[in-house]
Order: sequence, then structure tokens, then C-alpha cells
Amino acid sequence: MMQKAPIGVFDSGYGGLTVLKEITARLPQYDYIYLGDNGRAPYGNRSFETIYQYTWQCVQWFFAQGSPLVILACNTASAKALRSIQQNNLPKYYPDRRVLGVIRPTTEVIGNFSKTKKIGILATNGTVQSDSYPIEIRKFFPEANVYQQACPMWVPLVENNEYKNEGADYFIQKNIQQILQQDDEIDTLLLACTHYPLLMDKIKQFLPKDITVLAQGEIAATSLADYLRRHPEIESLISKEGKRKFFTTDSAEDFDAHAKVFYGSNIKSEKVEIL
Ligand code: DGL
Repeated sequence: MMQKAPIGVFDSGYGGLTVLKEITARLPQYDYIYLGDNGRAPYGNRSFETIYQYTWQCVQWFFAQGSPLVILACNTASAKALRSIQQNNLPKYYPDRRVLGVIRPTTEVIGNFSKTKKIGILATNGTVQSDSYPIEIRKFFPEANVYQQACPMWVPLVENNEYKNEGADYFIQKNIQQILQQDDEIDTLLLACTHYPLLMDKIKQFLPKDITVLAQGEIAATSLADYLRRHPEIESLISKEGKRKFFTTDSAEDFDAHAKVFYGSNIKSEKVEIL
């Protein structure tokens, strides 16, 4: 019998803390461990094979800590690694563990936010190239038209703490214009990257008021609550003392210094080696 252990929340770096923040607000009773693969981030421009390898290594690290359930808060990892992990690796090596991503929960509900059913996806190059969002959204909302725009500068702007400065405006405005030019009836934009919620105020500044902008944290939290209700066999394996632990594959000092803007409160992380 497996010992009870925390839910694992994974991201390439800090961004997944925006998702963890919403998940812990919604489901505070559970224990969580967070891992940011900062030493190898950003993932956004890396190849399919590399993102898969890095993500699988990190998922196995969570399993070594005992986690029965791992959430890939990272869109790029969800787009490029999740399917192989769920379909090939788990049945073969870890049939009792589960790994969930953020794309499916978002695509299940996103059409409900749009009147015109014209939806824009703002994401990293990796997520856009995978076409995961258009493919998945059409499964749930076949009438939807989905448009995508890669915003490769947005993550570096956030990572380097330049996102509130004027220099950021150029890139934010440019990518917003690029997506809106694809169809003037787009009424819903999804921030399909864990870092982008930090840019919310700036993004709204460059958007017509009648366009809805969605971040994924709340959607992921609602979906996780629903998943745990439907899967008591997994829920019963999660420890429930309200503990949170944070790990990074790079400097713990740097992680702690950056993390507050993503998580909203101070944290103390530990560095780990992932091989
Ligand atoms: N966390 C990634 C995502 O949600 C963005 C950061 C990166 O490129 O590593 O897509």
C-alpha cells in the first residue's frame, strides 16, 4: 500500500506558481510540492524531444518523493510531453500514478466564455507549434475558430523583471495586434502560458474592453477539485496537512527572490539535482 504524499506541481520555472497559488486557495487542505526546472528553463523554444525528456525526468522525481498525482502547470510541457507520459510511460512504469496537464481542463470550458466562438490563444512557440489548443478546443466546441499567436519575448520580460517597464509595451502591443488582426470577431483571449498572468494589466491596456482575457489558474484549480471528487482512489493517497514545499533545479536564493511576484507570498525553496 502506498504512503500518503503531496500533490506534485511542475513548471519549467517560476510561472507555475501562478497556478499553484490558485490551486492552494481552492484546495488548501492538501499537501503540495512544487518543482521549477529553472536550471533548464525556458522550455518554450526547445524541441519536442528535449521538452519530453526534461518533463519525464521531473515527473519521475515527483514519483520518487511519493506523489501519487502530478500536475503539469506548464503549457509547453503539457503540449509536448503529457500525451507520451500518459499513454506510454505511466501504464508501463507507474500504473498507479497520475499526471494531468492544464490544456485539457482549459479547452473543456473555454468556448463557454466566447459569444462569437472566435478564440485567440497567446502562448510560447512550443505550445503554438504543437497545435494542442486548436485540436483540443475543436473536440469540445466544434463550431469554434481558434487563432494562435506565439509571444516569445513575454517570458523573458517576466523572468528578467522587465514586464512593468515601457520596453515591455512594445512586445505586448505587437503580439496583441498580431492576434487581433487574424479575425476582428475574436472576443476571448487565453493566456496559455504560466507567466502571462503577470502581464494581465498591460495586456488589458492594449485591448478593446469587450474582449475577455482568461488566465488558467482558476480553471486548473476547479478542474483539479472536480478530478479529486471523481477519483477517490487517488484522493485517498494524498496527504492532508496543508503543507507546501518548493524545489528548484537552479539557485534556491534566486528562486526565493523571484517567487513572490508569482506566488504572492514569500517562500523558501531547496535546490535539487534532476538526472
Ligand atoms: N511555463 C511555460 C508555459 O506555461 C513558459 C515558460 C517557458 O518557456 O519555460 O508554457
